[in-house]
Amino acid sequence: MSRVIHPRLARPQWWRDAVVYQIYPRSFADAHGDGLGDIPGVTSRVWYLRELGVDAVWLSPFYPSQLADGGYDVDDYRDVDPRLGSLAEFDEMVAALHSAGIGVIVDLVPNHTSNRHAWFVEALAASPGAAARERYLFRDGANGGIEPPNEWESLFGGSAWTPAGDGQWYLHLFAPEQPDLNWDNPEVRIDFENTLRFWSDRGVDGFRVDVAHGLVKDLEEPWERQDELELWPRPDGSHPLWDRDGVMDIYRSWRRVFDCYDPPRFAVAEASVHPSRRARYASPETLGQAFNFAMSDADWRPGDFHEVVDTALRDAAESGSSTTWLLGGHDSPRVASRFGLPLIPSPRVYADTADGRPFRHDSQWLARQWLLSDGRRPHVDHELGRRRARAATLIELALPGCTYVYQGDELGLPEVADLPPEVLQDPMAGRSAREKGRDGCRVPLPWSADRNALGGNSFGFGRDGAHLPQPDWFADFAVDVQSADPTSTLTMFRRAVALRASLLAEASGESPAAAGGFAWVPAVEGVLHFHRGLWHCVTNFTDGAVPRPAGEVLLCSAPEGAGDGVPANSTVWLRAS
Ligand code: NOJ
Repeated sequence: MSRVIHPRLARPQWWRDAVVYQIYPRSFADAHGDGLGDIPGVTSRVWYLRELGVDAVWLSPFYPSQLADGGYDVDDYRDVDPRLGSLAEFDEMVAALHSAGIGVIVDLVPNHTSNRHAWFVEALAASPGAAARERYLFRDGANGGIEPPNEWESLFGGSAWTPAGDGQWYLHLFAPEQPDLNWDNPEVRIDFENTLRFWSDRGVDGFRVDVAHGLVKDLEEPWERQDELELWPRPDGSHPLWDRDGVMDIYRSWRRVFDCYDPPRFAVAEASVHPSRRARYASPETLGQAFNFAMSDADWRPGDFHEVVDTALRDAAESGSSTTWLLGGHDSPRVASRFGLPLIPSPRVYADTADGRPFRHDSQWLARQWLLSDGRRPHVDHELGRRRARAATLIELALPGCTYVYQGDELGLPEVADLPPEVLQDPMAGRSAREKGRDGCRVPLPWSADRNALGGNSFGFGRDGAHLPQPDWFADFAVDVQSADPTSTLTMFRRAVALRASLLAEASGESPAAAGGFAWVPAVEGVLHFHRGLWHCVTNFTDGAVPRPAGEVLLCSAPEGAGDGVPANSTVWLRAS
């Protein structure tokens, strides 16, 4: 499909310093009026995305799916779920986004299909040993087939094996509705390359690759103890399931597909790997970019952020890619709530939870603990959380690299932590006693403070309710309220993205004085200060104001403004004279 490329997306490697907005389509905007967000809903909000000033959107899966895992269980990789729209509506959305200069990244889920995918239906109907079973990972069960082949547990809890009913079992590292594919089978490889071409031909600009580190497995290795398997990152590629060297062959051949397009298609890996191996996924010969989740694990401490930034910039230099910054996403508790939790004393330690399983003591861990339904919740200070989240947003937007922002975080939306158990949809919720799951960050967005806007009892999300219940306090966070408030989180976000764009444009040539690499500036205790040319970013992690370095204040994350210094728990952008 030929198209006129918006100058913004025609820049070579536009994604290196892009601001990418993650849309979780079922919870963004509902144009069909059935309580479920959809593709025309995205099209109807291009004005909003344009006002945010983002360079691209990444859409979580919108493919046909029974939603056993929020759409990460795909029935057909080359179609749109009829409840979410049609291919024609997808094309209209892409055209509308492109004409606004906004790129489109789609989610690719290659580790597993859904159990309703035609291949899996065929595999289950076939006999052991049939070619149809070779597309998945079927193995004979133990004890004459009545027990799973080994004791591996799925990441969502419960056995990683489900019986096929004839003595064989199939592997699913996630839910039973998500059977793992066999990437040793050339047919699987060819088919996914066709999927890449299918969406690239429709004009998509890039792909987010789900579980990118999981595709190649060695099931012949001696079975290991479950707790061994849970320690994901290994520095040497020796894990039987994760991050084996063979995955790079797959991505090298995908690179050949990406490079057939002009501009070449972009890809970002979701890969939970040892930091020393992230560069392989972000190499220009493979996917080109990889998520670095370290910032979404960092606690509100200057040392944590300093370490995260140094490591990420070093990794990026090693891979030749640009680094990525993420504070939140559809898998983690909302950042505005996470930063309202008590800090965990340094240094980080491993601790045993009540069920005896090891867990890291970090901010993400505590946030998940907070979501426990057993009443042992730590206190959350919502105002402080929102304030720190705003400050952290200005840090990530000032750093070199690509920033990913999850829908609703631009509103400072808190986690909906008290969804009643009967409405929960996430497969993690039912299967793991430890967590209520990830639904609390997936509640449909509030567009209007009027609950009945559009007549839908959904704060303007759609005409007929919302698929997860929105609390009354969503009104305070609605887009229309925040748009009218010069001190709101949304207004700060819009200003920050616009300022960032003009500062980067300036630094890229018009004003050589403004150009310059990243460097830390020594600061008093509790403060982090870095600059990029004349653009300075100063964050005060303490609970009291600190003196401000010289320079013109461009932006301050604190709703009350910068005053004479850098206010408590906030970030100030300055232009040095
Ligand atoms: C990572 C996705 O972000 C998550 O939502 C999903 O549950 C798993 N991969 C399995 O596809």
